[in-house]
Amino acid sequence: MSTDYALTNAWERAQRRLKGLEATYDPTTRRRLSTLGLAPGWACLEVGAGAGSIARWMGEQVGPSGHVSAVDLDISGLHDLPANVEVHQADVRVDPLPDGAFNVVHARLLLNHLSERDEILGRLVAALRPGGWLLIEEGDMFSSGVIDEDPDHARAMRALRDLLASAADVDYGRKLPRLAVTRGLTEVGVECEVPFSEGGSLGTEWLALTFDQLAERAGGGILDPETVERWKEKLARPGLWFASLGVVAVQGRCPTV
Ligand SMILES: C[S@@+](CC[C@H](N)C(=O)[O-])C[C@H]1O[C@@H](n2cnc3c(N)ncnc32)[C@H](O)[C@@H]1O
Repeated sequence: MSTDYALTNAWERAQRRLKGLEATYDPTTRRRLSTLGLAPGWACLEVGAGAGSIARWMGEQVGPSGHVSAVDLDISGLHDLPANVEVHQADVRVDPLPDGAFNVVHARLLLNHLSERDEILGRLVAALRPGGWLLIEEGDMFSSGVIDEDPDHARAMRALRDLLASAADVDYGRKLPRLAVTRGLTEVGVECEVPFSEGGSLGTEWLALTFDQLAERAGGGILDPETVERWKEKLARPGLWFASLGVVAVQGRCPTV
């Protein structure tokens, strides 16, 4: 399967990594979707569904009268989902999406990674029904290595930013508000989030796994091994808290005309 996606789900520890990502961002994503009015009967599109926690949760919220299309390039993590969640293996860069079909379209930490992001964003907007909501939550690494108290964490987060910058737009989040307006969305709203994760949690394990996957891809030599070892030992310690990756969340509504 050809992809320019750097954090491929084919990596042997990818499913664990995706679980950590979900633990970090699901609470705010669920709050945002609830605020948009997600309700029984809604038709939902979850693009780049990963390990499926948000598709699963949306399926539960919309009930038997609603449905969820969960799309991913690699659907190996999309199982044990409610009956109203349909899984589609598709490459959102090239495969078509239905036009005017959904009450809500959601993507999280996907477009950052894809160089076709602006064109894909246009197709996500086109997939909305009149009055439907787009919610896009994308990384923006403005805070990486900047708001960290621990010097090893600050160094590791700067290294993570550099590693990711070779394969993704690490400043994409901040561009989304303008792009949402340009695409004709109304009622645009923006939030910026830097979650903190406690040592020893899935959230800090996610940071370590993301670092490992990117460092392996780069062939190592990114940060001295002593710092990495010290950093990971701290990430495993309950009672310490660490800034995670910043995200900008943009919502906007398709005009009803
Ligand atoms: C960083 S993960 C985020 C997963 C999920 N959105 C979440 O936040 O929990 C990105 C996901 O996008 C998927 N993906 C990457 N490129 C894709 C493409 N071209 N088409 C569809 N999905 C893609 C990956 O397989 C992966 O599951």
